[in-house]
Amino acid sequence: MNTLRIGMAGCGTVGGGVWRHLAPHAELLRQRTGKDIAITKVAVRTPAKAQAVGVPADRITTDWRSLASDPDIDVVVELMGGTKEARELIAASLKAGKHVVTANKALLAECGAELFEAARRAQRQLLFEASVAGGIPIIKSLREGLIANRILSVHGIINGTCNYILTRMTGQGLEYAEALAEAKAGGYAEADESLDVDGHDAAHKAAILASLAYGFWVEPDQLYVEGIRNVERRDIDFARKLGYELKLLAIIKMDERQAVEVRVHPTLIPRTHVLASVSGVFNAISVHGDVVGETLFYGRGAGADATASAVLGDIAEIAAHPEYRKCKAPETACLNAKVKTMDEVVSRYYLRLDIVDRPGVLAKVAAVLGAHAIGISSVIQPEVHANTSVPLILMLHDAQEKQFQAARREIEALDVVKGPAVVLRVEDFA
Ligand code: HSE
Repeated sequence: MNTLRIGMAGCGTVGGGVWRHLAPHAELLRQRTGKDIAITKVAVRTPAKAQAVGVPADRITTDWRSLASDPDIDVVVELMGGTKEARELIAASLKAGKHVVTANKALLAECGAELFEAARRAQRQLLFEASVAGGIPIIKSLREGLIANRILSVHGIINGTCNYILTRMTGQGLEYAEALAEAKAGGYAEADESLDVDGHDAAHKAAILASLAYGFWVEPDQLYVEGIRNVERRDIDFARKLGYELKLLAIIKMDERQAVEVRVHPTLIPRTHVLASVSGVFNAISVHGDVVGETLFYGRGAGADATASAVLGDIAEIAAHPEYRKCKAPETACLNAKVKTMDEVVSRYYLRLDIVDRPGVLAKVAAVLGAHAIGISSVIQPEVHANTSVPLILMLHDAQEKQFQAARREIEALDVVKGPAVVLRVEDFA
């Protein structure tokens, strides 16, 4: 049999893109893989959705479970989203001897260990290139191209919606709500916008990248996640004056004692670093390997075309190499690794306080920081008239999070400090 028969579950943005791009690339894929690739069945809740992108009525079913049991399907492509039904479909498909391709980052972050174990037991491929950074082949690069490297760090701008919002707030001076409305209109945001702006989408992707870098799945509660919902334009402006750009950054690192940190939060990046210039909906991932040094991957992280490119790449991989291949992360774990708590993480900080403008205030704040052995690297206090309080911006040297948070609480309790502090972490890529 020279045809690889695909059953596709879901025909929304990603599925529609896969369907549209397969036909005009079928001959190219046949030449490159030696197989004809045909989508023979599409499972959708609403048949009209699949018909709208040109799927013939006789290939449409509303029974997604039938993809796993159909003997005439070789590969199940799961693009339904959600976790409950997708998990059931993937598990059943692997058990039935089918290869699986998925774009489901939330599911992998939650149940990756279980599903990869099911693939190993079934000796079938479970590929997931579209789950992180859309069209950027970062999964294949980590699993294959960089396989000889110990991964020292991964830094990623991996949520296009947040990057778009921050770019518009920075460049055009939009307020957060205006920029979010634009991102939603552009079709990049998740149906539930909180997945984007509260950092969960980026955290799911970070969990997947961490599993590839270090060979084990970080539990969801071991990941530190903070989104961009509370970012204020004035902090972007102050940070720019200090030479930094604000990004929602995923940071994944292992130290020399094999302690891993995985965190996603708004982060100030020096303007001179290449990630600082990644704007709009674009994604970029910098991977530092002990052999290769620093690498950078850049491209569209969302949208029908970029994601279809990744899904079709996985399908082609199965067409060319249908056998299960073990020698690939995340099957090979760092045996002694442990995950750091956020309290143990060391970072630099940007701290903005609203203070009473009178002599001795700066000394009081500095005394608290000094008592916690936290150094100040620079200070700005813009001149403000006709106000009872003024902003004070401090850039701080490296401190352990626990130490920093203790100092912050003490500072917030000072009678000269009005309201809660604004804190942004700073990444120097050291
Ligand atoms: N909502 C996601 C983003 C889509 O904005 O990056 C791609 O995962």
